[in-house]
Amino acid sequence: MALVSRDIEAAARLLRAGECVAIPTETVYGLAANANMPEAVARVYEIKERPRFNPLILHIAAIDRMETHAANIPDVIREMAAAFWPGPISFLLNRKDSVDPLITAGSNQVVLRMPDQPLTLELLSMLDFPLVAPSANRYMSVSPSKPEHVQEQIGERIPLILDGGACRVGLESTIVGFDGERLVVYRKGGLAMEELAGFGPEVVLAGNKGGPVTPGSASRHYAPRIPLLLGNLPELMEQHAGRKIAVLSFRHSHHPEREKVLSAEGKLTTAAAGLFSALYELQHSGAELILSERFPDEGLGRAINDRLERASEQAEHFGG
Ligand code: TXA
Ligand code: MG
Repeated sequence: MALVSRDIEAAARLLRAGECVAIPTETVYGLAANANMPEAVARVYEIKERPRFNPLILHIAAIDRMETHAANIPDVIREMAAAFWPGPISFLLNRKDSVDPLITAGSNQVVLRMPDQPLTLELLSMLDFPLVAPSANRYMSVSPSKPEHVQEQIGERIPLILDGGACRVGLESTIVGFDGERLVVYRKGGLAMEELAGFGPEVVLAGNKGGPVTPGSASRHYAPRIPLLLGNLPELMEQHAGRKIAVLSFRHSHHPEREKVLSAEGKLTTAAAGLFSALYELQHSGAELILSERFPDEGLGRAINDRLERASEQAEHFGG
């Protein structure tokens, strides 16, 4: 069972050391980790048992930290942040290179949020890194709005639940982006859509016919630059002998150059932590195609395979 306490010093110590801690926000409880430590971020995915990598919201301590993580921030979003932060609204923005693609599940956009909860705001301002924090429930379960919900869902997997009592809003944050003309609501949530109307641009809901796609489904379209083929590595390498290949593997080295071995010790959290950066690097390695093996079908191996399968399905469109 996790300790339930209001000790933010203890929470800060654990987070600095790469542990995951449940934190209260005004919307729902989040499962927080140090966004600058890929292993800690990978552990969030592991604890939640999501079968795939869903992008995670980056929680920041102050409005001026938007610039640290996002580029080309539209004026209308700045105005909305000034009006509503801290509060139950999150913004989809272009990410800076410093944001690990593991956090955004490979996307070049990042969602930022400044939560309105005194303990968590104090915690964030003590830390010199932002926190990733999806809702602190297991995959497919209801989002937790009280410490005891978190305890029931994931209490055995984390050391500490920071106790902020019951969440004031109880619904996840509203996620909003700006497509250059319209404000796009990607997720309806704790801040009512009516509140956005005063900001000038038209407001549309993502996922409607003819409208923008929702973030979850958008992640399917992050096409790799070069084809990725998934299967038995020695066989694939023989089939593609003579071509300029890059190789992605779990534990063992198969190829002298343009290769990423994700975890020589065979740890799936380490493999997951390095997966997206490795894919980026291999895509820019000068290779014509990436060959990858399948990972063990357990724990984070499932999410890794999901990502690789989707990349290889897209490769069929290259005719490769
Ligand atoms: O109220 C909230 O936002 C809570 C509290 C803990 O802050 N957090 C939360 O996180 O609801 P989560 O992971 O359960 O939902 C985040 C959703 C993702 O499922 C995805 O749809 C969207 O936000 N999202 C996050 N980053 C994204 C990105 N880079 N691109 C597209 N969508 C993104
Ligand atoms: Mg959630």
